Amino acid sequence: MKNNHLLPFKPFALLVLLLCITSYSYSQKPDYRYEVESLLSEMTLDEKIGQMNQLNFEGLNDELLQKVKRGEVGSLLNVTDTEVINILQKAAIENGNGIPLVIARDVIHGYKTIFPIPLGQAASFDPEVARIGACVAAAEASEHGIRWTFAPMIDIARDARWGRIAESLGEDPFLSALMGAAMVRGFQGEDLSLPNNIAACAKHFVGYGAAEGGRDYNSTSITPLALRNTYLPPFQKAIDEGVATVMTSFNDNDGIPTSGNSYLLKDVLRQEMEFRGVVVSDWNSVGEMITHGFAADGKDAAMLSANAGLDMEMNTELYVTHLKQLVQEGKVSVADIDNSVRYILQMKFRLGLFSNPYVKIKKTSVVYTDAHLQAAKEAALKSAILLKNENNTLPLKETQKIAVFGPMADAPYDQLGTWIFDGEANHTVTPIGALKSDKAYENIKFTYETALSPSLKDADVAVVFLGEESKLSGEASSLSDINLRGTQSALLKEIKATGKPVVLVIMAGRPLTIERDLPYADAVLYNFHPGTMGGPAILDLLFGRANPSGKLPVTFVREVGQIPLYYNHNNTGRPAPDNARTLNADTKDVKQTSVGDVSHYLDSGKGPLFPFGFGLSYSRFEYSELSLSSPTISMNDSLIVSVTLRNTSNIDGVEIAQLYVRDLVGSIIRPVKELKGFQRVSLNAGETKIVTFTLFSDDLAFYGIDLIRKAEPGFFDVWIGGDSKTSPDKKRFELK
Ligand code: GLC
Repeated sequence: MKNNHLLPFKPFALLVLLLCITSYSYSQKPDYRYEVESLLSEMTLDEKIGQMNQLNFEGLNDELLQKVKRGEVGSLLNVTDTEVINILQKAAIENGNGIPLVIARDVIHGYKTIFPIPLGQAASFDPEVARIGACVAAAEASEHGIRWTFAPMIDIARDARWGRIAESLGEDPFLSALMGAAMVRGFQGEDLSLPNNIAACAKHFVGYGAAEGGRDYNSTSITPLALRNTYLPPFQKAIDEGVATVMTSFNDNDGIPTSGNSYLLKDVLRQEMEFRGVVVSDWNSVGEMITHGFAADGKDAAMLSANAGLDMEMNTELYVTHLKQLVQEGKVSVADIDNSVRYILQMKFRLGLFSNPYVKIKKTSVVYTDAHLQAAKEAALKSAILLKNENNTLPLKETQKIAVFGPMADAPYDQLGTWIFDGEANHTVTPIGALKSDKAYENIKFTYETALSPSLKDADVAVVFLGEESKLSGEASSLSDINLRGTQSALLKEIKATGKPVVLVIMAGRPLTIERDLPYADAVLYNFHPGTMGGPAILDLLFGRANPSGKLPVTFVREVGQIPLYYNHNNTGRPAPDNARTLNADTKDVKQTSVGDVSHYLDSGKGPLFPFGFGLSYSRFEYSELSLSSPTISMNDSLIVSVTLRNTSNIDGVEIAQLYVRDLVGSIIRPVKELKGFQRVSLNAGETKIVTFTLFSDDLAFYGIDLIRKAEPGFFDVWIGGDSKTSPDKKRFELK
């Protein structure tokens, strides 16, 4: 897929980009085969097993130092004190077997400078947002000795009850794949040995987001075809991008926990997907196979994981406890251990740890630099989604007096979102913080109350900040009720009852069910926890200094009972028409009939509140003249699909044009729509552009009934529009 335009860069983002580009050096990626083999040949079995052990750092003590000196530790996570890291590194190199430790940490959407949560970054539909964010995070984290992060999290997430949807890149394989690969590029750069680059980790392999009931850690039942057509594409893209590591997921799929699933780890990940990096377990996932009922005890769990091809065990120390005996008993092969250690040593060579193992204390820190903060603001600007804007309530005029209400107007910790181990709330700029102290907003007249107050009566407009505390999303934070919690909806309703125009600004870690709140807001700006610079970004958007451009990376349901509901669904044999019978029709004495029975909910219809890809702008965009370069293409042809896109308003803006296809007949049922391209298109007021996409037959390929990936001849429908639902028209072509 070729997108025919260059991404426009803002000056500051360019500055950050230059910072990130300096970390690029187009050196050929060496595989260090000679160095790895010669080192491996000198290692004892104990030393090999030691490399497969990753410990959680719980304080510098003699016991840990002795383990490191004895070569029983290959990696540590969660140590961020550079002095302590250098002490531990010295113990490994000068007093141990000379093999450096690799230090890891969860740096998911920023280290100190926090970017929007990944779900928010996905709403930008701009891979550069993800790449720059990861590059900035790598620069800040590596300054503190971190050389391996457990990101990007590229689990396809179709269930807003699941707390970790916040950490995902949404429901779509195509978008998640592009954004995830961009994060890999940002973290790793082109040369992993440069000290400000860090190893990335594609996680959680695989299908963790398909947990039954959206309940974290729950079982999944993903079929081999769904695995390949939905859940694996982001991982394949990350592997093609050179991701250094992959993390196994906690869940079992079809009764087999991933950390002991040799089909998934060897046949699929190693053979089919050709992954050649390190496979690391998630936290206690090896030991948890006992709890799952898959391993009898720790020794059994160690055997199952080692034989499945799990290279490094995080936190449970079952490898260092049992592997040697398992080898002596012939239950685990030295060959398998050698393979795991090869991947681990190669990663350490690629990171340059053998030549530069110690953390150099920087004279000037890169943490919280203006360039980093500006990049975080740019990301927050692009990640916000305008869901409603009636009576031209937005943009606000800077002369308007605003009455600010709500818990998220000044929530410095919660605004950062989930999975911020090192983010600091005292660096967050909240909306109220910006209004109070940022010269850029000094002329704006405002009042702020956490609850309704008389101050509203002489204000021109109410701006209500609602949403979720960060702890309501993230790991182990699934919810069965995803309405705005507490008295937030009641507050909004009371404020609206005053008759003033109301702007609702939401900061949350998931798509909340907000249908019942919409009538009480004239405008709604949605932010998936926007990070350190969320305040200034939101104010710039509210006052029209920036124009919202974000689009939904995930479907908003009307009711939690509709979940799972996603745009790229199957048609079923009974798709519901828009006017499908619902409860408000006469339901008294309605006779049972098989006529007119369709797939929907009597009480909430069939469709979402807001579809995947939806997002408004202060501009108005019009699509017309969809055209194809040909009505038919052959397998090695390409098809140019173009559309005329016009900004019919008097406000410059950016529209994310999205290209969707539908394969009308397949050897297996194909989704009613699939995203196959998107472009951020800048259009000045009144400007018209022809937007073109190039489709190749490989873009239409999928795993069919024979489990082979290929495009199948036949007819396809194609759309280009501003979201996955409304497309002015479609065209049909034939793949021969
Ligand atoms: C956690 C998470 C995983 C994280 C790991 C290390 O339980 O599931 O995403 O990287 O443990 O913190």
